[in-house]
Amino acid sequence: MSTDNTSLHLEKIIPQAEDFLPLLGTDYVELYVGNAKQAAYYYQNAWGFQPVAYSGLETGRKDSVSYVLQQDKIRIVLTSPLEPNGPINEHINKHGDGVKVVALWVDDARKSYEETTKRGAKSYVEPYVIEDENGTVVLSGIHTYGETVHLFVERKNYSGTFMPGYRAYTPNFKSEPTGLKFIDHMVGNVGWNEMNKWCEFYAKVMGFAQLVSFDDKDISTDYTALMSKVMSNGNGRIKFPINEPAEGKKKSQIEEYIDFYNGAGVQHIALATDNIIDTVTKLRDRGVEFLYVPESYYDTVLDRVGEIDEDLAPLKELGVLIDRDDEGYLLQIFTKPVLDRPTMFFEIIQRKGAQSFGKGNFKALFEAIEREQDLRGTL
Ligand code: FE2
Repeated sequence: MSTDNTSLHLEKIIPQAEDFLPLLGTDYVELYVGNAKQAAYYYQNAWGFQPVAYSGLETGRKDSVSYVLQQDKIRIVLTSPLEPNGPINEHINKHGDGVKVVALWVDDARKSYEETTKRGAKSYVEPYVIEDENGTVVLSGIHTYGETVHLFVERKNYSGTFMPGYRAYTPNFKSEPTGLKFIDHMVGNVGWNEMNKWCEFYAKVMGFAQLVSFDDKDISTDYTALMSKVMSNGNGRIKFPINEPAEGKKKSQIEEYIDFYNGAGVQHIALATDNIIDTVTKLRDRGVEFLYVPESYYDTVLDRVGEIDEDLAPLKELGVLIDRDDEGYLLQIFTKPVLDRPTMFFEIIQRKGAQSFGKGNFKALFEAIEREQDLRGTL
C-alpha cells in the first residue's frame, strides 16, 4: 500500500481551488450533430430525456436548428446546420457528431469572462446579452482543448424556457425517464504529452485543483495505456478528468479517439443514478449498447472490492463494474460509442461513498478478458 499522500480526501484537496470563478453547475452540453431531429428522438426514446425547447426556422433562426432535452438536472442541446457552409458544418465534417459546448452556469458571465481571459484563456465569444419578454441571459465563452468551448451562462434574470430565441417544445409523446440525475463528470481526451498542459489550464485559468485520489495509485499500468488526472472546481460540482494516450501493449484507446475525432475532445459524459440496476436495465431494453464484460470479471471482483450492498447476480447480468477506494465504492458501466465514429460514449455511475473514477476497473477488465483468452488458448 502506498503511504504517501495520494489518497487525501476530497475535502482536504478542494480548498486549493481558487474562488475567482464560482460555478453553480453544468448548465448544458451542446453537441453539433448531422441531424438534430433524429438525434433528439434517440435521446428521448433510448435515454429517457424529454424535449423542452426548440429553436429553428419557426422561431426566426435561419442558419441552424437546436433541440433542448432534459432529464432531472441534465440538459443536452442538439444543434444541426441548415446551410451548406459555416462553423457547425466544419465541426461536423472534421469531428463527426460531438460535443462543442460545455456550458457552465454562473452568477456573472461578464466577470467569468474577465477573470478567465485575463489569466490566459482564449476568447470564444465576448459577453453579450440576449433578451425576450421573460428577461435576459448573459453569455460569454472561452476555448478549451481541441475545438471544444466553455460558455458561461448567467440566467438569474430569466424566467422563460431555456433562453431567448427558443420556444417551449413539449411533444405529446413522453418517454419514461431512466433515472439519470446529473452529470457526475465529463472527460476530455487530449493528445500525447498534453495532459499536464490542460490540467494547468484548468488550474490557472479556471481556478480548479487537481483532485488527488485513489486513481493515481495505479495510473498507467501495462493494461490501461492511458494517463489521467482529474481537475475539480472549488465546490466539487464540476469535475473534468483529462486523459492522454500512453504506451501500452496495444494502441491506446485515447489515440484511437484522437485519430477519429481529429483532435482533442470530450470522450465521455458520466451520468449519475441512484439505482444503476434499474437505470441500466431500462437503457438496455431500449437499445443502448454497453461494453462487454467477461463473466470471469465477477469471479474475483468481491475479493478486490469487498462487501457491497447489492446482489452480485444482477450486476453480473448487466455487466456493471465495481470499484472501491478509501471512502466507499462505486458502480459503473460504459456504453459503446454512441456515434458513428468510435469517439464519444457515456458512463452510468452510482456512487456509494467513493469519490474516485473507477480506475481499478481498467486492470480488472483486461485481466478478465485475458483469462477468457487463456481458456480459449488464444493468449
Ligand atoms: Fe468516467
